[in-house]
Amino acid sequence: MFESLQPMPADAILGLIVEHKEDPRAEKIDLGVGVYRTAEGETPVLHVVKQAERRLVDSQDSKAYLGTAGNPSFNSAMQSLTFGQAEAADRMLTVQTPGGSGSLRVAAGLILRARDSATVWVSDPTWNNHVPLLGGAGLLLEPYPYYDGETHEIHIDAMLEALRAAPKGDLVLFHACCHNPSGLDPSEEQWRQITDVVVERELLPFIDMAYQGFANDLDTDAFAVRHMASRVPEMIVSTSCSKNFGLYRERVGSLSFLVADRDTRDTLASQVSSYVRTLYSMPPDHGAAVVSSVLHDAALRERWIVELGAMRNRLREMRELLHGALKEKAPSHDFSHLVRATGMFCFLGISVEQVGRLKKDFGVYMVDSSRINVAGITPGNVEYLAESIAAVL
Ligand SMILES: Cc1ncc(COP(=O)(O)O)c(C=O)c1O
Repeated sequence: MFESLQPMPADAILGLIVEHKEDPRAEKIDLGVGVYRTAEGETPVLHVVKQAERRLVDSQDSKAYLGTAGNPSFNSAMQSLTFGQAEAADRMLTVQTPGGSGSLRVAAGLILRARDSATVWVSDPTWNNHVPLLGGAGLLLEPYPYYDGETHEIHIDAMLEALRAAPKGDLVLFHACCHNPSGLDPSEEQWRQITDVVVERELLPFIDMAYQGFANDLDTDAFAVRHMASRVPEMIVSTSCSKNFGLYRERVGSLSFLVADRDTRDTLASQVSSYVRTLYSMPPDHGAAVVSSVLHDAALRERWIVELGAMRNRLREMRELLHGALKEKAPSHDFSHLVRATGMFCFLGISVEQVGRLKKDFGVYMVDSSRINVAGITPGNVEYLAESIAAVL
């Protein structure tokens, strides 16, 4: 049976990991893969996660099935983390999902159940798994302009124009903060303008929040979600705890819907449940139980906020260090977008050929688009990195 299958091209980022690993040069740098790393190049388990896990081992007395929606106390904590003190809680449904990817996938299935011709507008560019994941599930996707590679700014006018021209009822996928790959987000004023168009055109916002707490504090990063939730009758929000809790492999995320009324919410809950039952039956428990115990315990929550702040600050400092070093080594080039961007990613803004030379001549690895993961920069490698970049300009 399987001899008929053709090999698939390797995932560009996973391929880079292997190449970097096999590179014998001591000074090599990995700016490819999308995980947070410390200045020592590690992705450790957060202290607060370890603490919550220890408590869990001692207190958990059953591993019996929990159900399609996962852990109810995780779901209520995630709903508050996402929406704050929302007035419309009785029009909301939140379920636990296997990571942010699982959340996006379940959302896609429910959108298709509700309207099989649904079109989702996605930013150009967007996270490299959005299109395969949502398109692969059967959704029709259309791009809207987002990032201007020349000026390294958001194309806000072109974006608003495209949204104004989108057919009523279409969905628009937004990144709540730390836009992946550009690192550039709309300002609060621009989010208000975007929301005006969404309301005017009766579009349905579908927000992916995979980096809450990585650009700013948790509430500031949720601005787009909360502002839209106060203005639109319906919306969808996918969240991930992979980055802000460092729980990547545990697969923790949530999916929230805001709908017209309580009856619709109840019907939707039954639809989500039946959909999940046939897809993966129920989400994995451990990571969500950890998150729930952190969010429901004031001391643990405080500790988490401090650890999250330390990750955010390190990313910001590394952007500033690289920008400073590039100003010295390549004074005729403007890299100020490095410090205007937030979160883990941004584009360096160099050609594929220059990316290739960085890899070949200097052992500096990044994806062809020149998107870099700032977490790969350390005080120890930044000078070498800036010299290498200057050498290929
Ligand atoms: C924009 C965006 N959305 C969703 C995800 C999914 O994260 P996960 O499925 O690992 O929770 C990622 C991960 O890199 C992402 O960058």
